[in-house]
Amino acid sequence: MKKILITGGAGFIGSHVVRRFVNQYPHYEIVNLDKLTYAGNLANLTDVEKAPNYSFVKGDIVDAHFVNQLFADHNFYGVIHLAAESHVDRSIADPMAFVMTNVIGTVNLLNTARIAWKDNMADHRFYHVSTDEVYGELHDPSTFFTEQTAYDPRSPYSASKASSDHFVRAYHNTYRLPVVVSNCSNNYGSHHFPEKLIPLMIHNICQNKPLPVYGKGENVRDWLFVEDHARAIDLIFHEGKNGETYNIGGFNEWKNLDLVHLLCQIMDQKLGRAEGTSAQLITYVTDRAGHDLRYAIDAHKLMNELGWTPSVTFEQGLEKTVEWFLANQTWLDNVTSGNYANYYDSMYLNR
Ligand code: NAD
Ligand code: DAU
Repeated sequence: MKKILITGGAGFIGSHVVRRFVNQYPHYEIVNLDKLTYAGNLANLTDVEKAPNYSFVKGDIVDAHFVNQLFADHNFYGVIHLAAESHVDRSIADPMAFVMTNVIGTVNLLNTARIAWKDNMADHRFYHVSTDEVYGELHDPSTFFTEQTAYDPRSPYSASKASSDHFVRAYHNTYRLPVVVSNCSNNYGSHHFPEKLIPLMIHNICQNKPLPVYGKGENVRDWLFVEDHARAIDLIFHEGKNGETYNIGGFNEWKNLDLVHLLCQIMDQKLGRAEGTSAQLITYVTDRAGHDLRYAIDAHKLMNELGWTPSVTFEQGLEKTVEWFLANQTWLDNVTSGNYANYYDSMYLNR
């Protein structure tokens, strides 16, 4: 049994990666390490929590003593590192939490892996999951972020992720730690925390609440279905070359306002409302400070070298996502009420 440590596995993308690895690789033992911040929710993993090749450990990647002990207890073959503070608006309000987890936490993991693996470094793999936001913003509509684009982070979130990426590459260069890095565009799909644009809009449409569009809604994001990101991570973890970076994206750019209108249309149909009803909820609000104009990923390297392609169109992915949220109202209610925080206690403390 190869043991793989997945950090941040109770979060949005992490839970999809855990699910995929637990189901696809019964011969791997998946250890999910998560601090269960507001963004971590073990109810994201109810379908795999009893699988024999899955276990959960509650802990903080910033705690060096704890991380050292975890590596001493388990002989990890590899690490897939997703744990992070991930929301740009929160990084504007409280940058230090982002420095702690995204920078210090990542360096703790790198350090521990380097020491634990020093005698057979080449037999291991450290996968760092990062974001397209490290490349800054694009203005010319014909340009894309490639793996060669110079870093130009512009928010505390992206600056912390850029810093962590630099440390990962520095550990490869200096200590020959076998690393791979991927930089992905905006994800959407099931279990998405409703502070982010798509789940927030779905939630507010259901509740007939205002739909807050920042500025004029002209910012552009490149959306990828989260299960396609998890497939890409699987492929890169197994077939990516050491020291390499792979951009992941869906070639699927949307202006925020157009995307919100599309969601309103889909939701009107699903909820049996007259066309145009939900769009009346659109409310323009003060723009995000330093709001990046456009992100767009060139994913050709991943497609050409490793044969990855997205499996669903945006229409299919969005339809699945909306249907999931409508069918999982309890999940959404538990998250918005804060009840989800009790799931850990009932599953892991009281048994
Ligand atoms: P998320 O906020 O939904 O989940 C983050 C998880 O990390 C949570 O379960 C949280 O409890 C855990 N965590 C936070 N701090 C921790 C700590 N100190 N120790 C242990 N666990 C901790 O995030 P997400 O959207 O799933 O993103 C996962 C990763 O993917 C992040 O590294 C993010 O930068 C990257 N990413 C996200 C997107 C996106 O669109 N969401 C796109 C590209 C890359
Ligand atoms: O690009 C990848 C990144 O995508 C990830 O690294 C981040 O972890 C993830 O949070 C996401 O960042 P964004 O800032 O792009 O996502 P968010 O959903 O917060 O916002 C998407 C766009 O919608 C952005 O232009 C801001 C805008 N927005 C967002 C919210 C929450 C609104 O107009 N209104 C809102 O209420």
